[in-house]
Amino acid sequence: MKYNFDEIINRANTNSKKWNPDIYKATYNGHNDLLPLWVADMDFRVAQPILDSMSKIIEHGVLGYTGVDEEYYQAIINWNKKRKNSHIEKEWVVFTNGVVPAISFMVQTFTQKGDNILIQTPVYHPFRMTTENNERNIVTNPLINNEGVYTIDFEDFERKIVDNNVKIFILCNPHNPVGRVWTKEELIKMGDICLKHNVLIISDEIHSDLIFKEHKHCSFLTLDKKYFSKLIVCTAPSKTFNLAGVQTSLIIIPDENLRKAYQKTLGNVRIETPNSFGIAAIKSGYTEGEEWLDQVIEYLDNNRAFIEEFLKKNLPEAKYVKPEGTYLAWIYLGDVLKDREIEKFFEEEAKVAIDYGHWFGEEGRGYIRLNFACPKSILEEALNRIVNSLK
Ligand SMILES: Cc1ncc(COP(=O)(O)O)c(C=O)c1O
Repeated sequence: MKYNFDEIINRANTNSKKWNPDIYKATYNGHNDLLPLWVADMDFRVAQPILDSMSKIIEHGVLGYTGVDEEYYQAIINWNKKRKNSHIEKEWVVFTNGVVPAISFMVQTFTQKGDNILIQTPVYHPFRMTTENNERNIVTNPLINNEGVYTIDFEDFERKIVDNNVKIFILCNPHNPVGRVWTKEELIKMGDICLKHNVLIISDEIHSDLIFKEHKHCSFLTLDKKYFSKLIVCTAPSKTFNLAGVQTSLIIIPDENLRKAYQKTLGNVRIETPNSFGIAAIKSGYTEGEEWLDQVIEYLDNNRAFIEEFLKKNLPEAKYVKPEGTYLAWIYLGDVLKDREIEKFFEEEAKVAIDYGHWFGEEGRGYIRLNFACPKSILEEALNRIVNSLK
């Protein structure tokens, strides 16, 4: 089946956080007339087998309490083996209704108030928010930006861990917003330092199914088992199949002691199984969603290249960090906007909603994060608005 990702689907008349003006205006200083390329979901219709599996539930007509079965676990295990060469055992899989809530529960389970947690800025901002909301402190290991190629400062990484007695490191792989797909060597270096200093690694791999062809995702689960005593991996079908609204994530915890401790926290708030639609989506997506996903990645790759060509031709002063994975473009506009205020420019002139770089940490100032998981015509319109408003 060939999917049509050029189709424009009106989302403004739904409860979409990204598209409904009455909802997104809270983020954009009351502006409700923006073209939205911000929050990380896709504007594409979900794969037909997933929609069919959900329709069946509606047709059946009863939506009572749920539980999970063997088919659910096999779908998860087979998908991870096939797509990422990750070996997962059934017992390791713990449902949580979102990766961000899961990270918050981990912070509560494995640290005390006042403890320090390490992140690599600029990075997905809820890492900081969940940490600070739980009254723990953030320590940063800023990424090195070498002419748009981001790497890790390992010396600083270890020093920050030692100096601050860091308890948890939250890794983002692939990295949102800079788009790096960390190599095996980079992961081993970080893993060894964490093991040496008894630091729990939370590897957020939510974007790991969205990798461009010249790169390969390496899950922490595929590395030496020695890391397992200090490892939790976060995955989900939500980014992969555009199902964020279904609030279903899968937390993989190989170590029994870590798993029991985490499950105790979940048990206290009685988080047990996905809802009816989450279960259906996992089974159908992970067994029949591959064709759709491969086509989505190809479409995203074209959009990724389009941004590069467009900026080269129309805005050569912009610095585009072409992502290795994710559907997020990280673009430096500091030399273009100069002393113009970035919020004012986007909300009052260009009329485009993007994520402002400083949301991800001070290192992101002057950058924007643009979500290109949309029909090419929308992407083109957004880029034209930016360029024309600069004239
Ligand atoms: C790195 C990363 N982790 C987690 C999330 C959100 O996960 P969830 O919706 O499952 O809480 C996102 C969403 O953009 C993300 O980019």
